[in-house]
Amino acid sequence: MLVLGIESSCDETAAAVVRDGREIMSSVIASQIDLHRPWGGVVPELASREHLEKIEPIVNEALEQAAVTLSDIDAIAVTQGPGLIGSLLVGVCYAKSLAYARDIPFVGVNHIEGHVYSVVFENPQVEYPALALIVSGGHTNIFHVPEEGSYKVVSRTRDDAAGEAFDKVAKMLGLGYPGGPIIEKLARAGDAGRVKFTQAKISDGRPDLSFSGLKTAVARYVRENRIEPMSNGDEPTQEIKDLAASFQAAVTRALVGTLEKLAAELGPKTLIVAGGVACNLALREATEAAAKRLGLPVYFPSKHLSTDNAAMIAAAGYFHLKNGERADLRMTADISMRLQNLDNEDAELRASKVRYRL
Ligand code: KG4
Ligand code: ZN
Repeated sequence: MLVLGIESSCDETAAAVVRDGREIMSSVIASQIDLHRPWGGVVPELASREHLEKIEPIVNEALEQAAVTLSDIDAIAVTQGPGLIGSLLVGVCYAKSLAYARDIPFVGVNHIEGHVYSVVFENPQVEYPALALIVSGGHTNIFHVPEEGSYKVVSRTRDDAAGEAFDKVAKMLGLGYPGGPIIEKLARAGDAGRVKFTQAKISDGRPDLSFSGLKTAVARYVRENRIEPMSNGDEPTQEIKDLAASFQAAVTRALVGTLEKLAAELGPKTLIVAGGVACNLALREATEAAAKRLGLPVYFPSKHLSTDNAAMIAAAGYFHLKNGERADLRMTADISMRLQNLDNEDAELRASKVRYRL
């Protein structure tokens, strides 16, 4: 089955052709990073306008690179949510129009489930139960996946996503956007033991994560030590490199510590780490060390597949299509789509005294 994947949930317009959910025939990504850089973050109106301009040429390029035409495509998988409404709608409307015109099936895919599937191309087959840490600019969750397609959130961030913390700390230090790759580069030349950041304690004892306290601790450190944010062309000081390394180590400790603890409890057969922050080498190395201690394989996507792409959407969509799922033309974008179809505790958490950003 040849699936055309389409992704436009945030600031990447992407299309891919994937055979049988496993083989990438093409994967094309138009990143909008340069467009948003002057604003230090994604501007939703600019993003949706850019998606509109790019979607058709990107889909055509994906077909061309795969050496197929639209008439060879058996089905379409498109990101339905979560994401920015204007951005999502471009992909969803385009996918629906194509599917209607060609009279082929299509499905809406949860973007986070897409990230889970980003590991299927370059790794051995995932064995279930699996434990998946999905870390991106908008999401930080650990999912227990007892079997393919079943998800229970076993850890969530109470406030900022890990990638968001990287981006905000980078902004604070005048390092530019997006922050993750810049902090990682500086951290390589820094001393991670220089600043001791304490790990957030979750008052109700759940294995959840929190990064906004760490962000505030970095801000306090910057103020108290009179660290000047860098401006264009400055050579980063050793102090900034050490701070970047210490911050990155604190994020990594929190993520890997929680993943390891949950893995010891739940006994998965495979660990998955995916999403934009999974590009981070320090995180990869720390997860590999934890996996070794646990005696488990850990699968990461390559860099191209870690950040937003359409191959992962086609792979997740293939699973649903194979199960006979079909969307109809009433399907529309859903900005707050969640990935959880097992033991959903949302209502309980909403009723609890602790504030959750679900
Ligand atoms: O998955 P993604 O492309 O988009 C979302 O769905 O959010 O993730 C983007 C996020 C950004 O916050 C970016 O700073 C972070 O991933 N990121 C990194 C690295 N590369 C990208 N964070 C840490 N280290 C990196 N090397
Ligand atoms: Zn993403």
